[in-house]
Amino acid sequence: MRLGTEGSYPHCISVWGDVPDLIRNLHASKAMYFGKLVKLRAPEMTDLEHVMKYWNTYQSRRFLGSAIPMSETTEKQWLERATTAQPWEQGSMVLVIEDKKSGEFLGTTSLFDISKPFRRAEFGVAIHNPEKHGKGYGTDATNVTLWIAFHVLGLRSVYLYVMAQNKRAIRSYEKAGFKHAGVFRKAMFSDGEYHDLAAMDILCEEFLEECPPGQLIAES
Ligand SMILES: CC(C)(COP(=O)(O)OP(=O)(O)OC[C@H]1O[C@@H](n2cnc3c(N)ncnc32)[C@H](O)[C@@H]1OP(=O)(O)O)[C@@H](O)C(=O)NCCC(=O)NCCS
Repeated sequence: MRLGTEGSYPHCISVWGDVPDLIRNLHASKAMYFGKLVKLRAPEMTDLEHVMKYWNTYQSRRFLGSAIPMSETTEKQWLERATTAQPWEQGSMVLVIEDKKSGEFLGTTSLFDISKPFRRAEFGVAIHNPEKHGKGYGTDATNVTLWIAFHVLGLRSVYLYVMAQNKRAIRSYEKAGFKHAGVFRKAMFSDGEYHDLAAMDILCEEFLEECPPGQLIAES
C-alpha cells in the first residue's frame, strides 16, 4: 500500500497512451490506498450500479442483520451520505474496495460511529459478489482500513460485531489482528433462529506492532 493520487504522476497524463495498464488503472479509479490484492478509494454516485448488482443477494446479506431487499432509491440515499461524509464531522468513512489488478468493484469497507473523545470506531466490510468470497479480498481490505484508522486517523482502537456463525468473517478478522472481546447471547436473528453476536477489537499498539509507522501494507 502507498499514499498517492493522480497528482503524483502528472507526467503520465501527457503520454497517456504509453503508460502501463497498472498506472492507467490507478488514474482511472482514483485509488489512494493499496493492499496486496485490493485498492481502496472514495465512493462515487456512479457506484450505484455496482452496488445494485449483488447487494440484494441473500448469501452476502444474511450475516449483516439486514437481509431485506434494498431499492435503488434507498441505496442512492445511502451513497449520497457515503460520498459526502467526513470522519470527524459525520463520524463515518466509507471506502470502495476494488480488485487491484482489474479495477473491478468488489464491495465496501467502513469506519463508523467514529468517536472523537474516545478515538475509536466501529468497522464493517462486505464483499458483494458471493463468488468473490474466500479469496483473500476481505482480509486485505480490512488490513488496509486498519492502516488508515491507525496511521491516518490516529484512532486508539477499532471494534466490530459479527454473528458467531459467520465463521469466514471471524477467521478473516482474526487474520487481520482483531481479538475476541466478548459475546452477546442470542442477539441476532437470521436463517430462522437467534444467534450469538461476537464483539472483536484491535488496539492501535497491536496493529503498529505488525505494521509500524513508515511501513505500508503493500506497494501500489
Ligand atoms: C466476511 C468477508 C468480508 C470476508 O472476506 P473474504 O474475502 O471472503 O475472506 P478471506 O478470503 O480474506 O478469509 C476468509 C478466511 O476464512 C476461512 N473460512 C472460510 N469459510 C470458513 C468456515 N466456514 N469456517 C472457518 N473458516 C472459514 C478461509 O479459509 C480464510 O482463512 P484462511 O486464509 O486461513 O484459509 C466476506 O466473506 C463477506 O463480505 N461476506 C459477506 C458479508 C459479511 O459477512 N460481512 C461481515 C459482516 S460482520
